[in-house]
Amino acid sequence: MCGIVGYLGERNAVPVIINGLKRLEYRGYDSAGIAILNGSGLKLAKCKGKVSDLENKMASGFGEGTMGIGHTRWATHGVPNDLNAHPHKSSSGDLVLIHNGIIENYASIKEALIARGCSFRSETDTEVLVNLIEDIKDAENISLEKAVRAALNQVIGAYAIAVFSVKNPDQIVVAKKGSPLVVGIGEDEFFIASDATPFLEYTKKAVYLEDDEMAVVQKGKELKVRSIKSNKPIDPYVHQLKMDLESIEKGGYPHFMLKEIYEQSKSIQDTLRGRLLADKGMIKMSGVFDYHDKLLNADRFIIIGCGTSWHAGLVAEYIFEDLARVPVEVEYASEFRYRNPIITEKDVVIAISQSGETADTLAALKLAKEKGATIFGICNVVGSSIARETHAGAYTHAGPEIGVASTKAFTAQVAVLSLIALDIANNKGLLSKTQFRQYLSELDAIPAKIEKMLESDAQTRYISELYKNAHNFLYLGRGYNFPVALEGALKLKEISYIHAEGYPAAEMKHGPIALIDENMPVVVIAPKSGQYEKIVSNIQEVKARNGKVIAVVSNGDSEIAQLADHVIEVEDTLEVFSPLITTIPLQLLSYHIAVMRGCNVDQPRNLAKSVTVE
Ligand code: AGP
Repeated sequence: MCGIVGYLGERNAVPVIINGLKRLEYRGYDSAGIAILNGSGLKLAKCKGKVSDLENKMASGFGEGTMGIGHTRWATHGVPNDLNAHPHKSSSGDLVLIHNGIIENYASIKEALIARGCSFRSETDTEVLVNLIEDIKDAENISLEKAVRAALNQVIGAYAIAVFSVKNPDQIVVAKKGSPLVVGIGEDEFFIASDATPFLEYTKKAVYLEDDEMAVVQKGKELKVRSIKSNKPIDPYVHQLKMDLESIEKGGYPHFMLKEIYEQSKSIQDTLRGRLLADKGMIKMSGVFDYHDKLLNADRFIIIGCGTSWHAGLVAEYIFEDLARVPVEVEYASEFRYRNPIITEKDVVIAISQSGETADTLAALKLAKEKGATIFGICNVVGSSIARETHAGAYTHAGPEIGVASTKAFTAQVAVLSLIALDIANNKGLLSKTQFRQYLSELDAIPAKIEKMLESDAQTRYISELYKNAHNFLYLGRGYNFPVALEGALKLKEISYIHAEGYPAAEMKHGPIALIDENMPVVVIAPKSGQYEKIVSNIQEVKARNGKVIAVVSNGDSEIAQLADHVIEVEDTLEVFSPLITTIPLQLLSYHIAVMRGCNVDQPRNLAKSVTVE
């Protein structure tokens, strides 16, 4: 996620901004930049890489100034490079802007601006925004504040912006919708940031802008907040912060993993934003569109990945074969790359990777590419090695995932794969208009269902307390929820160090049932939308051998509640989307058990977030 920092007051803005950007590094980024206004005009430096790289670039006498803005960029439009880094200047060089978010309709705005003679240096949506503001400001001869408001009323998307004019070194205009922005109120000084960490050492008084709010930060004046839509003034609420630095980086959560579990309503919304147009009955994915023929005419999809990404691929196998009626093979990348696989030009290989840097996955896709397959990537890191190696792709836009155990990246991967399968099924005429719209509307409803489910984790916490000292767990699922059983087992073992196995529920009688006794907790994923009667029988088989059953069930399911030792209720949805729902309680179960066992949840032993070696 991008980070924004700004300062206006009596101090030298440079160290305030640079240290502030360092406080935001935890958000994940790939480039950084700073712009300040001082006695001798504008100074701006930006580059791909880390804040330390930016400092090296500034080393040759950057100068000082009492007003400035800085940015750490998490690339969404345009790969990480110096040109795409923020801050961005307007064509005339008068306006300087930083932005966290996505402008969905930037392409049409850019087209109109080019037609009016505007030129662009970067590939970013942000540069379009700063030029739109300038175009309006000049054309209507209005103030920066008014131009920002007019521009934002034309924009569709999410933003937290800070912008100033080089002609006015005493004012920064900020605005917020969908991305966080907070203003620190000091003694005759203001701080602007994505969260309070950059200014907590200077002041504990903060105004958190709400969506559709903008503000003028002006030296020697009170903070003026108003509505972007109605222009009505708003009386800002000044918080007296009590948090410490470390807890803010985690958004008040004790661990990044828990924060990322709770972010999944938003991360799936961000993943679907601009792609799933349920009200219009459409899917719009540029990466898919550019290779539509290859995807629609593929003889076979080969999905490669590792760990959780491999599990997302398994879910995709069910979705693609069920809806798009196309053969799918899912391969561990590490096996695929060495088994001399048969690959033809009619194959489409989908490489799934959160980090985009997993060595086995990268090597496997290079092999497939050499043999003529079309390579489609699903990554969470823009400009990562895997993303750059593919012919086309779709980013998951889940934001940086810091916890080693993958959570929001998994559900974002499944959401993107669902969109692709639905797009193919629809374009191949395999779904009626009504069916297609039903799928789109249900997928659109998933973030709200996750939000509702995450209102309380009391039940998973209670169950975790009971079983935190178990030595083994079994996870069982059928159909779409078999891969969820594997994912749930992986989550548990990688952060709590308890051995856990995932199995197709019907497979139990072919061996694992010998393991069942009163010391074997068995997690059974049993939503109504699945092979319900069958999974009920599997639960009975476990109970008949004194196994302890923890069942993930649809809200209000009284039948399994009679059988199982514990039930965790989840929102109902179509079977095809059930992994997006049933995964959530398994993430929480593994998290709470690991915490109760005193494990290092965010950095489990022996594990790395990105396995860049074989
Ligand atoms: C998942 O919780 C693990 N951290 C691990 O299995 C991970 O999914 C795997 O290493 C693949 O990583 P990638 O998605 O970045 O390629």
